[in-house]
Amino acid sequence: MPMICLSDFEAYAKKYLPKTTWEYFAAGADECCTRDDNLLAYKRIRFRPRMLRDMSVMDTTTTLLGTKISFPVGIAPTGLHQLAWPEGEKSTARAAETMNTCYITSTFSTCTVEEITAAAPNGFRWFQLYIHWNRTLSEKLVQHVEALGFQGLVLTTDVPYTGKRRDDIRNNFQLPPHLKVKNYEGAFEEENCSEYGLPPNSIDPSINWNDIYWLQSLTHLPIIIKGILTKEDADLAVRHGVQGIIVSNHGGRQLDGGPATIDALIEIVDAVQDKVEVYLDGGIRTGSDVLKALALGAKCVFIGRPALWGLTYKGEEGLREVLQILHDEFRLSMALAGCHNVSEIGRHLVQFSKL
Ligand code: FNR
Repeated sequence: MPMICLSDFEAYAKKYLPKTTWEYFAAGADECCTRDDNLLAYKRIRFRPRMLRDMSVMDTTTTLLGTKISFPVGIAPTGLHQLAWPEGEKSTARAAETMNTCYITSTFSTCTVEEITAAAPNGFRWFQLYIHWNRTLSEKLVQHVEALGFQGLVLTTDVPYTGKRRDDIRNNFQLPPHLKVKNYEGAFEEENCSEYGLPPNSIDPSINWNDIYWLQSLTHLPIIIKGILTKEDADLAVRHGVQGIIVSNHGGRQLDGGPATIDALIEIVDAVQDKVEVYLDGGIRTGSDVLKALALGAKCVFIGRPALWGLTYKGEEGLREVLQILHDEFRLSMALAGCHNVSEIGRHLVQFSKL
């Protein structure tokens, strides 16, 4: 089966994954309006392409907080990769290393951070943190990933509680007994575990802006906050001294009715005025989606579900294929729009009268 575009990987995953796993990956909150709008919003944007600009030499590279990557697409944090492929996050790490891009490793990984580091020792990785109600556990985890060479800490801000995902409730979605969320292994042997193999309510719902100072006191790593959707919060993020913002609605899995991320991006980019880097995730399915996000001010985008589909298809190799297709599509879109490199991508590329 030739894989031409990311939808081909989606169709493969839907056909071959167990139904409950497919539905866990696909899930959005409530009626899935926000999940679906993440994709639809790209289809409303049109370019203003430029011609006759000698496109024989091009460069897709960029930097994330100073580290060079091969193109502005990284891997968003998603949990439980062994549901997609036996080697799980080790395969993800290897694919990201080979493709020279950033892999944001989830707190809810099914391999330990040591295994992930050993699998791809030269990979560029950030660690995504959910703050545990037992703060000592989170403190240890942060210090551990810093010692292992992770280069950034991504704090997810949009999960005081898990969104209501109907299919997961109907399926009584549970982690199969042979899989574990490894980063907390051993910490809760006595307790009853919830669907992720974690004790219920393992994410601290009390987290607030003061916890950014707490994190800064624990680590020298740059802090990137994920889940910001308004200029007010973007402004607070800058004032609390974070280094980056990921505009995200968790793939539409949290508040249904929140904005598509590409629609929220502009007010955030305008609010931060280049004081911190702004990234985006949600609904990126083609290279022209990447170009649109960069044109509207994102420094880089991240893919969630498409990475899981790639892993499902062929592990490391499948994810590499997903990234390669996005890379090639992005380069082609740049060429057809007349951009030689990422610094030439800007708002002039977008037809605002259509928005
Ligand atoms: C996620 N996401 C997520 N985010 C996070 O900060 N920590 C996590 O552990 C997870 N886990 C997770 C599992 C699954 C199955 C999905 C689909 C998503 C959200 C993720 O980082 C990202 O915001 C979205 O997936 C981006 O949207 P797309 O690319 O899936 O459309």
